[in-house]
Amino acid sequence: MKKTLKIFLIIIILLIVSYIIYLYVSNKSKYKFEEGDIRLKHNMTNSKSLYEALQNRSSSRDFSNKELTDETIANLLWSANGINREDGRRTAPSAMNQQEIDLYVILPSGGYLYVPEENLLKRINPTNMTDKTGYNAPMSILYVADTYKQNLNWAYVDSGFIGQNIYLFCAINDLVSVFKGTFDKEYFTKALQLPDNKEIIFMQDIGYKKEQ
Ligand SMILES: Cc1cc2nc3c(=O)[nH]c(=O)nc-3n(C[C@H](O)[C@H](O)[C@H](O)COP(=O)(O)O)c2cc1C
Repeated sequence: MKKTLKIFLIIIILLIVSYIIYLYVSNKSKYKFEEGDIRLKHNMTNSKSLYEALQNRSSSRDFSNKELTDETIANLLWSANGINREDGRRTAPSAMNQQEIDLYVILPSGGYLYVPEENLLKRINPTNMTDKTGYNAPMSILYVADTYKQNLNWAYVDSGFIGQNIYLFCAINDLVSVFKGTFDKEYFTKALQLPDNKEIIFMQDIGYKKEQ
């Protein structure tokens, strides 16, 4: 009888401990919100048509130094590669749904990782690096491929879809943009502390058009 009671108590304790671990793991987010991070709240209300977006799409390299608001940044990133379905799939397709492209965002307030699952811009480096991106845009996005998840050929293709999402978003939100393959990758690899399996493959500059 005593032995049965002991086993029963052990099972109850194990069940309670498992439940506590489950609650901890399910509530724990990967990134803790810290000073300098930016919470993103996207709220898309644009009524312009896809035709207007396609009609206006173009590359531009003349940026004014006017900064984008947090809401515009949130809407732009959601359009670029945000989550649009409950299963975590994105506004841009990815080969085999590997979602191997991380977007890093360069703003005057620093360099950030876009974390779509948590609607968060996680600050990695507080330095203003906008003067290192090429055309001094107030916002640049780095396309960083995880080569453990996917090979580079697919990563190049997947980046193109994200890039076009951004071009179309800009075309109907009074913004201009340019997608780039040439820039100082070494500088940003160091500045964003990227490990060997994270390769910067493209950059896209975004901002308001400089008044002539
Ligand atoms: C894969 C790729 C790489 C590019 N690299 C650069 C670049 O390094 N610098 C730049 O100023 N523009 C770059 N561009 C932009 C092109 O020059 C631009 O798309 C082209 O001139 C056509 O102009 P449009 O986008 O206005 O139609 C790149 C575009 C693509 C698709």
